[in-house]
Amino acid sequence: QKGGYDHYMRKEIHEQPSALRQALGSRVDVNAGTASLDVDFPQGYLESIQEIQLLAMGTSYYAGRYAATLFESLADVRATPIMASEYSYTGGRDPWRTLSIAVTQSGETADTLGALREASAAGARTMGVTNTLGSSVTREADDALFIRAGPEIGVAATKTFASQVSTLALLAIAVGRERGALSAAAAREHLEDLTGLPGAIQQVLDEEDRIRETAHELADSDAFFFVGREYGYPVALEGALKLKEISYDHAEGFASGELKHGPLALVTPETPVLAVLTDGAHPQETLNNVAEVQARGAPAIGVTSGTLEGGTLDEAFEVPDAGIFEPLVANVYFQLFAYHIANAKGRSIDKPRNLAKSVTVE
Ligand code: M6R
Repeated sequence: QKGGYDHYMRKEIHEQPSALRQALGSRVDVNAGTASLDVDFPQGYLESIQEIQLLAMGTSYYAGRYAATLFESLADVRATPIMASEYSYTGGRDPWRTLSIAVTQSGETADTLGALREASAAGARTMGVTNTLGSSVTREADDALFIRAGPEIGVAATKTFASQVSTLALLAIAVGRERGALSAAAAREHLEDLTGLPGAIQQVLDEEDRIRETAHELADSDAFFFVGREYGYPVALEGALKLKEISYDHAEGFASGELKHGPLALVTPETPVLAVLTDGAHPQETLNNVAEVQARGAPAIGVTSGTLEGGTLDEAFEVPDAGIFEPLVANVYFQLFAYHIANAKGRSIDKPRNLAKSVTVE
């Protein structure tokens, strides 16, 4: 069942190239600069919306954060990621002009379904982005969009994060084209980057031995901090969640710029800092923040596009060219880092303590 892997989580990390081929394959026409998603919005609907909400929890929420930035920059529409359990207290302003998207791998997360129901009752059009055919979200939302990642057994979400972001990227491109916010040439470029992701991720997977060594060297640290900007920020949050969930170590993700507003006080030679320094994550700016943690003796591990000017990292990993999706590729290093730390500690990787794959209570 685990196909020769010790854990489902590692198997699922390695399945990302094929999962992404399934998510993207038949939906993308790079030459035409189009993405087709089997979702029929009413005529003129996409031009009329003023806000897209991404409602989700956990890893799906971080995928929603990545997607929100994609919607803002590719489709020029206000996009708000909302932690679904907080939806009742924040809600929205103009439901009639809002598309509320529930992002949920299982399609059964109680908090996410609760937010979806509230949005729908207020008058918003709703959509479920899910991995699970026939799940509650597909029955309750006006539209469903499948991420086609294949079954994910490990409690830690891995391949579904990549598939959620990529599928939502297709939607952002489609919405951007429809609203006239994205040129055909720009759409083609992003679609090329997306269709290149399986190969790019495979190159990261091929570096597993090196990230395993780094993970083993740092496994006994006091805490781990992850930093990034723009598309690197949700990946920093996700990297920290993955590590804390399966290794039980203290890990936190920050926007790089946030460090000196408090978290820097936690930084010591025993707190490695992992930074997203790729395209799509403003690497040169983050490099300044990395210098600040290094000045406090913290080891700095960076994932780069291979083109940094100045600054020296204690350990550098590279991602191939993938434009604004490079942080998504960088995330695969973070998944492997978390996996190998947890494995070195003998943790129950596929079923971490206190956690369930699908959280069906609020
Ligand atoms: O099924 P969902 O995507 O709605 O699940 C949401 C979260 O419970 C889930 O992503 C959780 O955070 C993962 N275990 C993280 O690895």
